[in-house]
Amino acid sequence: MTERIPLVIDTDPGIDDALAVLLALASPEVDLRLVTTVHGNVELEQVTENALRVLHLAGRSDVPVAVGARASLIHPQPERAGHVHGAAGLGGVELPPSPAGVDPRPAVTALAELLTASPTPVTVAAIGPLTNIALLLAVHPEAAARIGRLVVMGGSAGRGGNVTAAAEFNIWSDPEAAQAVFGAGLPTVMVGLDVTLPTVLTTDGIDRFAAAGPVGRTAAAILQQYVDHAKDVYGTPGVVVHDALALTEAIAPGTLGTVRRDVVVDTTLGAGRGQTLVDRRSVSASATAVEVAETVDPASAVEFLVQRLCLLDGARA
Ligand code: BDR
Ligand code: CA
Repeated sequence: MTERIPLVIDTDPGIDDALAVLLALASPEVDLRLVTTVHGNVELEQVTENALRVLHLAGRSDVPVAVGARASLIHPQPERAGHVHGAAGLGGVELPPSPAGVDPRPAVTALAELLTASPTPVTVAAIGPLTNIALLLAVHPEAAARIGRLVVMGGSAGRGGNVTAAAEFNIWSDPEAAQAVFGAGLPTVMVGLDVTLPTVLTTDGIDRFAAAGPVGRTAAAILQQYVDHAKDVYGTPGVVVHDALALTEAIAPGTLGTVRRDVVVDTTLGAGRGQTLVDRRSVSASATAVEVAETVDPASAVEFLVQRLCLLDGARA
């Protein structure tokens, strides 16, 4: 087998974040070296506790968790997503506490040290607001330049927003940070609503990993709040696990069809705030262009997720 890709997940768990972390732990292609937490779906203390507990659920409390930004860079964004993810972020499921505490280093320091020390390029999957990555760029630009791939769940090229008419939640939560990151010239893949919304995990798939064993059963319990929310709000029989699709692209590069595009984030304070303005008129040759995910095979992406989650309980799907 080829060498495992060192991986960092920057996250705000979050139901789909929890699934994404579990997917990474189930995937032999990657070696999860660090989890960094960021404000987002719920408050920072809670997402950090959730990250520790999700790792413990999978028997991986050895993976360090470093605490990141408590708030967005410039304009306070107090609105959270507890109505989607549950007040404590994991769909009302209380996971057993982890024996591990948090890493003593701030997230950007832990990330910079890992990037600098790694002999092989590190993939960073950013599945929350981009505040930590923007801070890394500002404080440790030489370490940020060593990122092998930055896979971002966020934005939308042509599907509008999910939190406002214009904006997707992660970008809307810190548009200034997102603009700094998308404009930095890092090897970035934007996994936005264009590819996540069509990728629906149905209750059939959830039932398969729920039957595999205790970890799958707990993952299914965490998802139940998402299932109920999707049924109530959208009338759909399945869930969109945005962050897990971004992790799939991080684990298996090329899963999604991408095109190099110029992307600008709307940082005005009007109705368009947080919109990702993706120039789809042409393929960009600019050094700061972003690989925008535009196509997905939803059935195979969902199958990949279900099979991998079954593996956490040692079962073959
Ligand atoms: C994104 O917003 C959050 O609520 C999810 O965890 C995901 O990262 C989807 O818009
Ligand atoms: Ca998230």
